[in-house]
Amino acid sequence: TEQQTWSQRFESALHPAIARFNASITFDIELIEYDLTGSVAHAKMLAKCGIISPEEGEQLVAGLEQIRQEYQQGKFSPGIDAEDVHFAVEHRLVEIVGDVGKKLHTARSRNDQVGTDTRLYLRDQIKQIQKQLREFQSVILDIAEKNVETLIPGYTHLQRAQPLSLAHHLLAYFQMAQRDWERLSDVCRRVNISPLGCGALAGTTFPIDRHYTAELLQFDKIYANSLDGVSDRDFAIEFLCAASLVMVHLSRLSEEIILWASEEFGFVTLQDSCATGSSIMPQKKNPDVPELVRGKTGRVFGHLQALLVIMKGLPLAYNKDLQEDKEGLFDTVNTVKACLEAMTILLREGLKFRTQRLAQAVAEDFSNATDVADYLAARGVPFREAYNLVGKVVKTSIAAGKLLKDLTLEEWKQLHPAFAADIYEAISPQQVVAVRNSYGGTGFEQVRKELLAARAQVDS
Ligand code: ARG
Repeated sequence: TEQQTWSQRFESALHPAIARFNASITFDIELIEYDLTGSVAHAKMLAKCGIISPEEGEQLVAGLEQIRQEYQQGKFSPGIDAEDVHFAVEHRLVEIVGDVGKKLHTARSRNDQVGTDTRLYLRDQIKQIQKQLREFQSVILDIAEKNVETLIPGYTHLQRAQPLSLAHHLLAYFQMAQRDWERLSDVCRRVNISPLGCGALAGTTFPIDRHYTAELLQFDKIYANSLDGVSDRDFAIEFLCAASLVMVHLSRLSEEIILWASEEFGFVTLQDSCATGSSIMPQKKNPDVPELVRGKTGRVFGHLQALLVIMKGLPLAYNKDLQEDKEGLFDTVNTVKACLEAMTILLREGLKFRTQRLAQAVAEDFSNATDVADYLAARGVPFREAYNLVGKVVKTSIAAGKLLKDLTLEEWKQLHPAFAADIYEAISPQQVVAVRNSYGGTGFEQVRKELLAARAQVDS
């Protein structure tokens, strides 16, 4: 087996099982393109600062770019002996450019290097996730725009509460995704800080230019303290937190879709392209997509918890525990991206709202009871008094197997002289929704305004 980079200081080789245990190459290969980009910036900086010659700088950059090509063509796949992606690249570089390759690691440590790689990776991934969030939002808007006047029961405590515009219900998820998008932008401000040049922990004896590498790598600023720079993983925790909230939102939507697709609710039908069958029950059509999203949410929360626990007892500065930041981070990125993709497809083509059934649902419950109380309150009856009166009407109606719309005008007038013929209009589901026109409410006029603003946000 190949010699370890650090083998000169050691008497004997690593135990093979320990080599495997120690190695991160099996997963940190994910960082290779960012490692190469970071190394190119470092090499350019070394040349610019006169730490190596301009020719040496050019040779290093050319060698690194060759490794990038080899990797992209599937010709570079380092094994366990390489230990990690940083050593793998350095070894290959020396093979390609010869002894000058051994100068690349001047004024640098794997500690500032891995921090740089991880930040470049995450910055890229955040952009991709934000783009996916925009697509998800835009599919929500497409459905919402077509369903402003489609009604759906609204719930609190999962009990029928007040009917809603279906668009309004869906727009709630648009707003959650909007916060997710903004939160990721905010997290990116802390991701996009350069630790490169912090060295192992204390800085370096060479006259480096950290601002220059930061500028080449498009970092917004640089860490002010080298110890903090190499050992900070706040940015990763913040990302895991933002990602967890994305998953909370996708999981809540998933739960609703699962309920809606049940026989009991029957609000949506699942389209064949996004549902699965059973191995034994021929009649089944299962909502696997939202179930998986709901299930995968647990994984992402776990990764957040894991990194918090990894960090809590670490003394300054770098400790190998920090290598454990990566798998959870990568898995989170991959999980969030996969879930956003699946949910966007599910919304776009996998669900059909059963509008007839929805209309029927809101017409056959007591979710217009508030409107009877509001009717009286608007005619001068103190709200609490009106509310008590309607409570009694609901009780007697349920006992009589009737709905509020079934009461005769005479019965209404007996309950209170303020009732007139327009009570029927006031308690029709369409009207009940339409009149909730307070800012942010479900009234159709409000929903149309919210839709316009939302569309503008997505298009901006
Ligand atoms: N593979 C390591 C990691 O992922 C790179 C940094 C190693 N640094 C060290 N001093 N052992 O964290």
